[in-house]
Amino acid sequence: MTATILVVDDERLIRWSLRERLQDEGYSVLEAETGAKAIEQFGRGVDLVLLDYRLPDIDGLAVLERLQAEDPDVPVIMLTAHSSVNHAVDAMRRGAYHYAGKPFSLDEVSMTVSKALETTRLRRQLRALRRAAGDHTSVEGIVGDSPAMQEVKSLLARIATSPASTVLITGESGTGKDLAARALHGASDRASGPFLNITCSALAENLLESELFGHERGAFTDAKTRKQGLFEHASGGTIFLDEIGEMAPALQAKLLRVLESKTFRRVGGSVDIRADVRVVAATNVDLREAVRAGKFREDLYYRLAVLTVHLPPLRERAGDVELLAHFFAERFSSEFKKPLKGISTPAMQRLRLHPWPGNVRELRNALERAVLLCDSDRLDSRDFEFLSTTTVEHDTFRLPASGIDFRELERSLVIQALERARGNQTRAAALLGMNRDQMRYRVEKFALSEVRRKAAL
Ligand SMILES: Nc1ncnc2c1ncn2[C@@H]1O[C@H](COP(=O)(O)OP(=O)(O)O)[C@@H](O)[C@H]1O
Ligand SMILES: [Mg+2]
Repeated sequence: MTATILVVDDERLIRWSLRERLQDEGYSVLEAETGAKAIEQFGRGVDLVLLDYRLPDIDGLAVLERLQAEDPDVPVIMLTAHSSVNHAVDAMRRGAYHYAGKPFSLDEVSMTVSKALETTRLRRQLRALRRAAGDHTSVEGIVGDSPAMQEVKSLLARIATSPASTVLITGESGTGKDLAARALHGASDRASGPFLNITCSALAENLLESELFGHERGAFTDAKTRKQGLFEHASGGTIFLDEIGEMAPALQAKLLRVLESKTFRRVGGSVDIRADVRVVAATNVDLREAVRAGKFREDLYYRLAVLTVHLPPLRERAGDVELLAHFFAERFSSEFKKPLKGISTPAMQRLRLHPWPGNVRELRNALERAVLLCDSDRLDSRDFEFLSTTTVEHDTFRLPASGIDFRELERSLVIQALERARGNQTRAAALLGMNRDQMRYRVEKFALSEVRRKAAL
């Protein structure tokens, strides 16, 4: 497809020479001699804009802003007769792709145009791929390059195509269990079939049973008609049973029967129906623990656990916080149509240090909030101010390497508490469950008044 280029300049000669050259190179060219016309033409869909800095009606920078707001993906190359560094910086800040001083050489313009178009094409392609990945998710939709996640992804890819059908996904809340289940479905040969999910804790036992298996007419008081359940609707596809640990024991037994015999009956029914579904179950509780506590059937546990994929907490995925932060920043910047240049180094540092008890979900929400509320085109440390207040009091203290003696351990804990409390001894004491005198005694014993003063600065 030929790219369409909009040339905006009030000088006819310039428009003409650009058009000749660009048409020669196979582009189709639209022209505008004013800012108002440019905005109008832009609405017809163009792939790139060459924009004069000085226009008779609207200031070129204002036009640039308008176009960027409408579609930040279309590159704009500014042309100017009086090039100045300030202008260039202004233009770049507002999202111009390039800034060319007049008189420019046509060769230079033509090269910049082709480079800009290539960049946009790649960017769009990447976005489309990611969007596709986000919708019905191939395994690639899972962002993460840490060794732990590489292992998870390769395991998912292998399981997806294996005939063994039942899979258990474990991991803390927010680690991506839903996403992994969809990825598994998307990468399997069931991808064209349905993916249906249900949260086991959301329904009372009898409702869940009829949701899953359907019911015959008259099976119970409210069963006025026959109803198909998820196992029938999902035929040829995947059923995702979330929070499987919350399933009532009687239903656990029925589920086990389905998994073993590959058949089920509707509630109140007497016919065995073949179940052509892959069951993917997820849990954020330790099922072995639940088995020990008598809350979860051991036989079902062993049936489910044959193929287990464990999603590690975000704090154990070195390097992924950066990757995910960029990924979500880009996603929300395009979703909210807020052009963003990136994340500042201090902001990234802050994200790296946060413990992320809510895992990827918490990170995703943090980026959503930051992008929504930030008032510049770069996310800065203060855009993540809200993170610092959340967990400090509750998270655990680091313990020194083993082999350390008690005195060292005590000293280390006191220092950490003082640092967290910014030198406030009363607060530091509270963090360690001591009273103020006990803290003061230790500050003296370890000669830590220095730490106190430094931290107070
Ligand atoms: N590795 C990942 N890459 C991209 N997005 C992720 C990843 N892990 C989780 N998410 C996103 O984070 C949010 C929470 O994930 P979800 O799968 O619902 O977690 P869980 O089911 O484990 O609580 C979702 O919006 C999900 O798309
Ligand atoms: Mg979930």
